[in-house]
Amino acid sequence: GDQKEQWKERAKALLKQHDAVLVAHYYVDGDLQDLALETGGCVADSLEMARFGRDHPSKTLVVAGVRFMGESAKILSPDKRVLMPDLDATCSLDLGCPPEDFAAFCDAHPDRKVVVYANTSAAVKARADWMVTSSCALAIVQHLKDQGEKILWAPDRHLGRYIQEQTGADMLMWNGACIVHDEFKGVELELLRQEHPGAKVLVHPESPRSVVALADVVGSTSQLLNAVVQSEAQTFIVATDNGILHRMRQLAPHKTLIEAPTAGNSATCKSCAHCPWMAMNALQGVVGCLEHGSGEITVPEPVRSEALGCIQRMLDFVA
Ligand code: 13P
Ligand code: SF4
Repeated sequence: GDQKEQWKERAKALLKQHDAVLVAHYYVDGDLQDLALETGGCVADSLEMARFGRDHPSKTLVVAGVRFMGESAKILSPDKRVLMPDLDATCSLDLGCPPEDFAAFCDAHPDRKVVVYANTSAAVKARADWMVTSSCALAIVQHLKDQGEKILWAPDRHLGRYIQEQTGADMLMWNGACIVHDEFKGVELELLRQEHPGAKVLVHPESPRSVVALADVVGSTSQLLNAVVQSEAQTFIVATDNGILHRMRQLAPHKTLIEAPTAGNSATCKSCAHCPWMAMNALQGVVGCLEHGSGEITVPEPVRSEALGCIQRMLDFVA
């Protein structure tokens, strides 16, 4: 209501005043996504967020998402100030892959190319040869396989297994998962699909195998959004964080979007279909970080330059 509009107006004024741009992920609150688009920022998947932040001329980036997204922005643009509405917004994949344990895993397998998902800390990226996101992981692993490389993969086991099955690459896996996507259920999804015979099933590859197996489209958040916009189909069942429905509805207002089933509902399951860390981002946080210069991301050297290598390799590959 009114209150919200006031926060939005304050955020707009502060973005301008501080030569700042808002870079938002599809999973954050719809008001933040709208604010980003109304002020020349972006709403995007993790690969596009990284590129947008790097290429934008603003002196300050406000990253509405989770910590690894802020860190990637800072690694790519060390001379920009990178702020986040809430620095406690992390990710179960990042939390589940502590840098020391990961380094020991790498040390034990020096014959493998180290490929890490974007959803990791800067310290983990500093140990990696390649970073990938869900939008380019398949192509990059295929490329490495074609070069005869064996792979050490971390941290998402579902994405890793999906890519392993698609490419046949030799992949040694870390055992991590996204607490949100891990809750989607294959059997219930199959039943739902039978109720909606014409529906296309859209699945983010952090989901379990039984869910991915039912997908018409497997892809990053942007790729799933594009599928809704471009497909002839009228109805879609969406197996990813329900924050994305906001943008899907805006871009395809006449299509029917159905959330894929999870283990429970919001009363019984805190992380079902919506990421608790993405949910920490709010208009108030955008205002707060710009007003006080709080929530600033720093990535100390030499970790920053070491982590830059694997990100740059990915960006060069997809360029
Ligand atoms: P995308 O790169 O597909 O946007 O997914 C990243 C992610 O899991 C954010 O939570
Ligand atoms: Fe991490 Fe999953 Fe949240 Fe994405 S949705 S930030 S992968 S916990």
